[in-house]
Amino acid sequence: MSEDRMGRLDGKIALVTGGARGIGQAVARAYAREGAKVVIADLNGEGARVAAAELGAEAMGLAVDVAQSGSVAAMIAAIIEAHGRIDILMNNAGIGANTPFLETTLEDWNRIVGVNLTGAFLVAQGVAREMVRTGEGGKIVNIASLSGQRGANGRAAYGASKAGLELLTKVMAVELAEHGINVNNIAPGAIETDIARIMHDRATRAAYGRLIPMVRYGTPEEIADAAVFLCSDEARYIHGHTLNVDGGFREAGLMFTRDAPA
Ligand SMILES: NC(=O)c1ccc[n+]([C@@H]2O[C@H](COP(=O)([O-])OP(=O)(O)OC[C@H]3O[C@@H](n4cnc5c(N)ncnc54)[C@H](O)[C@@H]3O)[C@@H](O)[C@H]2O)c1
Repeated sequence: MSEDRMGRLDGKIALVTGGARGIGQAVARAYAREGAKVVIADLNGEGARVAAAELGAEAMGLAVDVAQSGSVAAMIAAIIEAHGRIDILMNNAGIGANTPFLETTLEDWNRIVGVNLTGAFLVAQGVAREMVRTGEGGKIVNIASLSGQRGANGRAAYGASKAGLELLTKVMAVELAEHGINVNNIAPGAIETDIARIMHDRATRAAYGRLIPMVRYGTPEEIADAAVFLCSDEARYIHGHTLNVDGGFREAGLMFTRDAPA
């Protein structure tokens, strides 16, 4: 960061879960570009350290399993030891699957809900408690999904976990406002990452091609730009909101190529 240009997140301590790759990594890069000291925490601890090293000496990489309360507590303790506080949480770690409702096993359900909903809850609660303790407030952005807003093939556990997270965000926004903690969601549409490569078969991609007004997948950097905005001072009165970053997918209805009148 050159001295004549202030970053929008200058000096903030920012935690990005699931930041070793994909959307989280793009967010970590954007936060660092805006002047934040970034902590990347991921199930892939080595990947987290490599991604952090790319951001420079002030960034830190940690191993965490967000679905395990002891692992989350150890992650938060390590950040507090290093920095004394956490100003920003990008609650991004998540897993997906494309499994029909009738074939979804209890194990599938528990694994996905355990990471995407319970994991997000554990991290958000632990971080929010630190924000309350320091009395300095903060910003929390949860990563929900368009799949938590609309019915879609194969998204029983995944969609339910993300719908739950969207509601959890509203409760957090109501309860944490008095502590100066700003809470919002980003709901990505179809973003080209490894999770999309696992979840999106050819039929899924063809369907998105018909259903997204902007007729393309989004990029991790497009989510990162929204994440910087929501964590900047410019977004200070946006609270409990879900910002869809989806090329217009949620809002689209009837779409067709104009033809001669019948
Ligand atoms: N890519 C999309 O189209 C899309 C759409 C909507 C929402 N999302 C959401 O965005 C977030 C990021 O997705 P992505 O596309 O970058 O996926 P990705 O698979 O590329 O990255 C996810 C990261 O989370 C980490 N992770 C997984 N389980 C973890 C755990 N238990 N503890 C800690 N880290 C864990 C992985 O190691 C990985 O680095 C997820 O919450 C996902 O549900 C993605």
